[in-house]
Amino acid sequence: MEQLMRNFFLFLSKNKTLTKLAKKYGFKFGASRFVAGVDIDHASRKIKEINEDGFVVTVDHLGEFIDNEQEARESADECIHAIKTIDEKGLKSEMSLKLTSMGLDISEELVMENLRKILEAGKKHNVTVTIDMEDYERCEKTLDIFKELRKEYENVGTVLQAYLYRTEEDLQDLNEFDPYLRLVKGAYKESAEVAFPDKKDVDENYKKLIKLNLLNRNYTAIGTHDDDIIDYVKQLEKEHNLSRDQFEFQMLFGIRIELQNKLLNEGYKMRVYVPYGDDWFGYNMRRLAERPANVMFVLKGIFKK
Ligand code: FDA
Repeated sequence: MEQLMRNFFLFLSKNKTLTKLAKKYGFKFGASRFVAGVDIDHASRKIKEINEDGFVVTVDHLGEFIDNEQEARESADECIHAIKTIDEKGLKSEMSLKLTSMGLDISEELVMENLRKILEAGKKHNVTVTIDMEDYERCEKTLDIFKELRKEYENVGTVLQAYLYRTEEDLQDLNEFDPYLRLVKGAYKESAEVAFPDKKDVDENYKKLIKLNLLNRNYTAIGTHDDDIIDYVKQLEKEHNLSRDQFEFQMLFGIRIELQNKLLNEGYKMRVYVPYGDDWFGYNMRRLAERPANVMFVLKGIFKK
């Protein structure tokens, strides 16, 4: 049943008509549970509050199904505007973005041009930019782009997904780039040809990758809400006498807030991934796919108005 619900929400997340309708009818249906606001002004108020509580942030301008050059350029301009706002308002925030919203599916020149503009702004305003990882089909291209940009910019990082068979090799391959990596389990629906179908194997591989990257002495962001994984990182910290300057935990805005507070109180660096924008529908559906129990929050949002 749970698997059926997951597939259903992932199916909805890819629906262009629903995404357009959600944009048109505004910020509704529990959107504010997982999304910080429709624009950077709203989001920056939220980020300020989060910072005041002791957390650092990575902000993400949501953009789904960007399929023309103009939209991709607008999306890049919005990222630059957000970077300037972060600096102006003195927010403790990095940025995360998706290459498809920068024109990955349109042309490589366009995506590189947009990324260079954003990374230049990030360099000027001291904001690090992490390139999120999307579906398997785009993984190789994303890593190639990351490697190219990493040669030119210090303020760029990326994400590796533990559910893919290829990831261990990718992680070793990236080692020479002294990368800033976020490690996650992976959020897309992938076939058993490319990804571990069983959660147990994903979790095992995730632990293996975290250990490898930490022992390679690369800065590691662990993006998870999973108690078992977090306990494993704490165990590694003790066993290998790891410095807390070498890693951080990251969680999504609105998810497991008590756990976020607990880690912060224990003295860990805790970064909250804060999405904003009117393109919230696909993002929210992916969060529901991770945990269909969250549907209750969304239903409450519909009736609350
Ligand atoms: P898992 O799904 O096994 O959940 C463990 C426990 O966490 C659950 O039992 C539940 O208690 C809690 N939990 C998990 N999800 C929840 C939810 N939605 N609501 C409430 N509780 C929940 N993926 C990707 O493919 N590319 C990317 O670039 C990123 N980037 C990214 C950044 C950050 C900061 C995070 C935290 C995650 C991502 N992800 C991602 C998503 C990631 O791949 C994964 O889908 C989710 O984090 C869920 O997996 P967990 O590790 O949390 O464990």
